[in-house]
Amino acid sequence: MIQIQRDAHRDQGNEKLRLENTPQIATKENRLFVVLPDDVDWRSPVARAGWLWYTGGAAQLRKAEGSIMIRVHDGLIEMHTQNTSYILATGQGGLAENLHYGAKMRVHGAGEALRAKVAVGFGGDVLRPGDTVSPGAMRLELSPTQRGDFREGALLAKLPHGGFSADFTYKTATHGQGPAPGGGMPQGRGAGETLCLSFAGTGGLEVELFYSLFYDTDVIAKKMRLTNRGGEAIELRRCFSTQLDLPGCDYTLTTLNGAWGRECMPEKRALAPGVAAFGSTSGHSGNRCNPFFMLARGEACETAGEVYGFNLVYSGSHRGSVEVDGFGRTRVMQGLSDEAFSWTLNPGESFITPEAVLSFSAEGYRGLSHNMHRFVRRHILPPRWATAPRPVLVNNWEGTYFNFTEGKLLRMARVAARLGVELFVLDDGWFGARNSENAGLGDYNVNRKKLPGGLASLARSVNALGMDFGLWFEPEMVNEDSDLYRAHPDWAIRTPGLSPAKGRKQYALDLCRPEVREYIIRSVGGVLDSANIRYVKWDMNRDISDGYSPALHNQGEFGHRRVLGLYEVLDNICGAHEDILFEGCASGGNRFDLGMLYYMPQVWLSDDSDAHMRQKIQTGASFGYPQCVMGCHVSAVPNHQTLRNTPLDTRFNTAAFGLLGYELDMTALTAAQKGDIKAQIAFYKKHRRLLQQGDFYRLESPFDSAHGACRWMVAAPSRDAALVGDFEGLLWPNSTRPNMRLPGLNPDALYDIAVRAQKIDLDAFGGLINYVLPVHLNPDGMLVKTAAKVYRLDGEAESYQAYGSQLAAAGLARLQEFTGAGGYSPQLRFLTDFASRLYVLRRIGEKRAR
Ligand code: DGJ
Repeated sequence: MIQIQRDAHRDQGNEKLRLENTPQIATKENRLFVVLPDDVDWRSPVARAGWLWYTGGAAQLRKAEGSIMIRVHDGLIEMHTQNTSYILATGQGGLAENLHYGAKMRVHGAGEALRAKVAVGFGGDVLRPGDTVSPGAMRLELSPTQRGDFREGALLAKLPHGGFSADFTYKTATHGQGPAPGGGMPQGRGAGETLCLSFAGTGGLEVELFYSLFYDTDVIAKKMRLTNRGGEAIELRRCFSTQLDLPGCDYTLTTLNGAWGRECMPEKRALAPGVAAFGSTSGHSGNRCNPFFMLARGEACETAGEVYGFNLVYSGSHRGSVEVDGFGRTRVMQGLSDEAFSWTLNPGESFITPEAVLSFSAEGYRGLSHNMHRFVRRHILPPRWATAPRPVLVNNWEGTYFNFTEGKLLRMARVAARLGVELFVLDDGWFGARNSENAGLGDYNVNRKKLPGGLASLARSVNALGMDFGLWFEPEMVNEDSDLYRAHPDWAIRTPGLSPAKGRKQYALDLCRPEVREYIIRSVGGVLDSANIRYVKWDMNRDISDGYSPALHNQGEFGHRRVLGLYEVLDNICGAHEDILFEGCASGGNRFDLGMLYYMPQVWLSDDSDAHMRQKIQTGASFGYPQCVMGCHVSAVPNHQTLRNTPLDTRFNTAAFGLLGYELDMTALTAAQKGDIKAQIAFYKKHRRLLQQGDFYRLESPFDSAHGACRWMVAAPSRDAALVGDFEGLLWPNSTRPNMRLPGLNPDALYDIAVRAQKIDLDAFGGLINYVLPVHLNPDGMLVKTAAKVYRLDGEAESYQAYGSQLAAAGLARLQEFTGAGGYSPQLRFLTDFASRLYVLRRIGEKRAR
């Protein structure tokens, strides 16, 4: 991604540019020449126009003259991204009608061919005076309330007349460069152009619908601004960020559902008449249902067909819904949750919704995921970190939990440094009386019993080993047994007359109160400035209950105001420490959303680091999010969450498709394990850019495979390199496996394909050891056990050459698997339950023209 910052002054009428993460750029004869990153398509009209335009630190290319993304003419509004079109008609009944959202097209004239033809109306219609068509028969971007459209609508307000019935009459469409108003919330960075449709509403309620176009990623972001132009207060009861009416109802809905330890499980359902609603009411985006969801049309599948994707740049409670009406049409809505929501809009005040993100691909789930991945990388993540290589880390949590000393940490750090780790992260338990979950949250003063030299000294010792130092916080929470709570019991969220409920033995702080926000900014900021801290794990370990704040007049505002308070804190802390790498965490993925990713470029995806579950979790998350946001760790076995044993190589091979970390006691590793980990880290660093930033392909889903097999690929945008992860799941014995087909490569390029070298543990053979070794040994004897610690067999060495077209059309035939009775041969692949392999593809030439 091009990162450009505007300098303070201008030079002869040209903006002076300072570059970061620089693509090559030069100024020549007052024109800018940019060498684009290789994933920007030069053939797109935007790129061909050869003009650089920049805003908010993110650069885009666009035409010099006029707009090419948005056109307003003949009562028609055309919005176009690289491969999609969003077409609206205005006028009829003062409404904005959706004529099309989907594949890119050219519209003839005023779009007559697209417009709904209704001559005499439908039985049961309700018509407002002057209507020729009932609002209920139209596909609407904004519906009048209780005035003929009886589907759920995006906006519900209690108006000064005391009722809810309302009309919203279209006034104007304006458009210009840059983003929509932010409203104190994160939103996509570097929007190319934004359209604003404004409506005059009953009771003085003005509505503006914003559409921001992210041309290069096929994303259109929508939000709504409500302004009270009247003289009396208005109560907002529901204001979603998007309402989209699609024709027909032949769609499959996929939501990412789950719970702690099994986040982001894709759940598919066919649509049926009525409302399918999903979301979160826990105060966070939550692990029960991620804000990302998809609608796939008809027979669409991973590689083909029309798929829509939806997401929200928001970290609090949210709601999505898909309604099929009596005419078999589909209404999609998404926004902040209307559960216990009520917002007082006084005269002159405005309310802005969070930003909804919409994308469409005609290339199946894969195409849609690629759009979303590009959008997150280019327009959500902090520019400083978007493409920066993320460090290999070790985190002490599962290695020590609360039970550590400085000596123990440094012993772990020394091993980690020798193995190639770049960042040492000290997790929970370093402050106050935090020796268990019961106490200390809120008191960010160093526990000198554990760390006599303090943080600065520990950081120095870690730095002296050649690693950066990182630290854990949970700033939004407090334990009852803490100095903070004793001093300010009223800072914990509670509802008068109710004893507050606890989650993980803690209370949540009331971020609606400015003094609480100031405390967090001061205390966390103070620690960050006290030592050389290069990374922060920002944890949050409970859902929000007992919603109420004495700082508010209207308690219906609590949920959203708490999230706005959080964003204010993050603006301050992350904004003041741009060079610190922040990782969001919420007992794993209980707050994994575009809002948090705007501040923190990575998230600890799940506390569950069992490789087999992680393949599912990472597969699910990959539908909406790129691998460069997913913290993925190798931990000890039996796994602490599932008690499952998986091979160390598979734990690495799985974590390598995200941001690699180790979370185990490195001092307890055997020499062989240390050797393996050293080799893993070296491999990861060598292929880091590809693994973190490459285009991600789901080749086989563990959700579709009878025995949980999974296969992923990442490919460089240039297609010069790719890496395939082949994960076995439960072993399927004595099989003839189909060739491994690899799409997406350069068909004309010749590739070298090699398997990453892995070792085979002797004790994996059990009683078969005597068929493998030339000498006879007791499989349970000391000799085998001792030998297994120091001696291992080499795994198979596979290496091939093939053209991209060959790999796509026919695939790669790999070595046969070990079948027991057949015996041992170096020409076999030794697979066990949960075994896996990585294949490295390197372009070595071109197909010669005949
Ligand atoms: C929950 C996180 O998900 C874990 O990784 C760890 O940081 C603990 N909190 C510490 O309390």
